[in-house]
Amino acid sequence: MPKIPVKLVEWNEIVEWSWGLARKIEESNYVPDVIIAIARGGYVPARLLCDFLGVENLISIQSQHWTEAAKKGERAIIKFEYVINLENARALLIDDIIDTGESVILARDYILNTWKPKELRIAALQWISPVAKIKPDYYYMEVKEWIWFQYPWTRLEDVTQFIKRIIEANYNEKKKSTWTLDEIVREFEEWYGIQVDNRYFNSAVNILVKKGIIKKINNELIYLLGKA
Ligand code: ADE
Repeated sequence: MPKIPVKLVEWNEIVEWSWGLARKIEESNYVPDVIIAIARGGYVPARLLCDFLGVENLISIQSQHWTEAAKKGERAIIKFEYVINLENARALLIDDIIDTGESVILARDYILNTWKPKELRIAALQWISPVAKIKPDYYYMEVKEWIWFQYPWTRLEDVTQFIKRIIEANYNEKKKSTWTLDEIVREFEEWYGIQVDNRYFNSAVNILVKKGIIKKINNELIYLLGKA
């Protein structure tokens, strides 16, 4: 059984969902002058919406809440604050997902107070309605049970964090500290119920080695805290 519910999202689904989202925006007759991507998750959907809605102006704001995949981080903050004048513009703020809603609320409030657009509406590919503190004006999919969407743009980051968690949990529960790559792949598929290309596992392991979390000896991977 997967330890957390994960849905692997493919690139073609992103195109379909963004297309569907664009149609909803169009049907509402809202014509944004500028699209604002919430970095980093909103970048790809924002770029696709520019194409599908014929919008030339694309800017971004970085509002960050989740520091690790599928794990709650600290509160949201705006990174790299800057001021622009949007007084004459209708704006559309977009993120990939509205989960707790904290990052989008923070970005919205910052934009309304500092950039002062004529109008600001919010869009997301996914809206996790039972946990979100805000309902976006537009969403492609309402998610009624919390799930981690493994988007194509966080594949390596997520795989790395998921592997790290597997290694840590096995050490804490069973004092297991030595792994083969095959064992990691099997445990990963069991925990998360998804399959990813092998190159992600190889790169993720290399990242964990670089961070000093594991070391590689011949074909074995050794959890370093486990050895301490
Ligand atoms: N970022 C915040 N919540 C998320 C979720 N449930 N899935 C993917 N990315 C997220």
